[in-house]
Amino acid sequence: MLVWWISAIALLWICLAPVAIYLHDPKRLRKYPNQNFLSGLTSLAYVYERRNHFRTRELHVHHKKHPILRTGPTALSFSSVAAIKDIYGHGSPCLKDDVYKSISGDHPHVLNVVDRDDHARKRRMLSNAFAARNLEQWEFKITDKVEKLVTQFDRHCTSPLPVGASVSSDDLTIDFRWWSNLFTFDAIAAIALSERLGLIETGNDVVNGDMGHGVKSLGLIDSLHSGGRVVSRFVGATDWFHLLKGLYKIFSPHFKAHADDFGKIVRLLTDRRMKIYHDGAKRDDFLSCLIEDKAGKQRGLLRKEIEAETSILLDAGSDTTAIALTNVLYYLIKHPAALSKLRMEVDGALSGGKVAPFTKVKSLPYLKACLDESLRLSPPVPRGLERKTPPEGMKILGKQIAGGITVSVPAYIAHRDPSLFSEPDEYIPERWLGESEEPKDMRAAFIPFTTGARACLGRNITMMEQQILIATLVHRYDFALLSQDWSLDWEEAFNLWPFQMPLKIWRRKI
Ligand code: HEM
Repeated sequence: MLVWWISAIALLWICLAPVAIYLHDPKRLRKYPNQNFLSGLTSLAYVYERRNHFRTRELHVHHKKHPILRTGPTALSFSSVAAIKDIYGHGSPCLKDDVYKSISGDHPHVLNVVDRDDHARKRRMLSNAFAARNLEQWEFKITDKVEKLVTQFDRHCTSPLPVGASVSSDDLTIDFRWWSNLFTFDAIAAIALSERLGLIETGNDVVNGDMGHGVKSLGLIDSLHSGGRVVSRFVGATDWFHLLKGLYKIFSPHFKAHADDFGKIVRLLTDRRMKIYHDGAKRDDFLSCLIEDKAGKQRGLLRKEIEAETSILLDAGSDTTAIALTNVLYYLIKHPAALSKLRMEVDGALSGGKVAPFTKVKSLPYLKACLDESLRLSPPVPRGLERKTPPEGMKILGKQIAGGITVSVPAYIAHRDPSLFSEPDEYIPERWLGESEEPKDMRAAFIPFTTGARACLGRNITMMEQQILIATLVHRYDFALLSQDWSLDWEEAFNLWPFQMPLKIWRRKI
């Protein structure tokens, strides 16, 4: 009987406490409109929103009416680009939110570590490897992978599409989304770990090796995506996160069995790289920056920390770039005028050779504009990156916001501010060339890599990969989608994943 009473009281408490807190409103958030009927009461509001396969696009619809929305009991989303500086800028008192703690294991990595000093320490170790002045030392690794991709694409080429003819589904010989991901995994494994995965040559994402209980074969893309897909369902519901994840494991044996597959691959690849180091061989890669400092002195990091950093380099360094490559090729095919303008620029810069040399393409303005416009329209990380206000609170957009509130500006929404980007839903690379608008203001609102102390470390590397690969492809090939009406769709987990993009591909006559 006592158990029943205790359970009834606990249940009543779980249901009534949020209502009481909502009415009491200690953080003064009730004045902001709720995103959905749960937002003011429970962070499960996030799980409810995740039913949308592209939830930031839904949030954008709400934001058209309300510039500040309450997305959870202690969470606000801002659509105004003026809030970017307050929340993310250098000197902002905000820290990364508890959401990042939920997803980090025992050893956080440079992306999810919250503590300011620990973050600065990690970033210092890696910054030399990522510095723009050292960028060209990675070019040969990227060129090697582009060359391998071209070899594969040459094999998949079909006959040219006559003008006005329609594409037969048999001619859709490549899924560009898949191949771009094989390319970015091969490239980042070489740059970060000096590892030769050979995914492009085999055309599949399988990694083989001893992963603890004998030799296993695991799919790299599949393991990264299936874990991310599940965790992204409830990560915003911070106070429910561990319970929901535990329940999911009970009810989904597949998730339970495969939740750590990506972790197993990371351990295997870290083992291989550490063995090379212990055997006394030198390698020029990101891991060497974690193992030794510039003077060659051992840093003495715990093995778990090296593994955590390897994991984020492989994850952040592959997924986002593959998305960006898929999106930009999609927009170019859908906008033939932009594609032919780009071709004129690229053809003029290149003179033979299989792969575009970085020196020839890095300063091409229209190529850069095409890449930026795609990152604007479909940022690979579209959602509001959660930051937490300091205990004493702070001003955002001149309004006092209490301490401990999760605040964010989604890139997808900032990039569609109609006062800065005319026809915001259209793909118009020219806007970045100052032909029609004022690029300076647009730049401040352009946050695909976020901004401030936690901005992306890999920005220069991804731009180099994109510039070399896209210039090479548009110079060498022509492409067609199933039809000009065919459209790409996306699934938003943490990143905005495009679904498949089947293409017909053929060699251009240059
Ligand atoms: C188009 C490609 C890319 C996009 C759109 C992108 C976007 C981002 C964004 C939005 C963040 C902030 C995440 C957050 O605060 O939660 C970030 C952080 C980061 N990215 Fe990227 N990224 C890209 C490519 C890369 C590449 C190629 C690498 C590695 C080679 C990389 C490594 C990192 C790292 C290490 C961080 C953590 C930085 C820190 O917290 O100090 N990214 N990226």
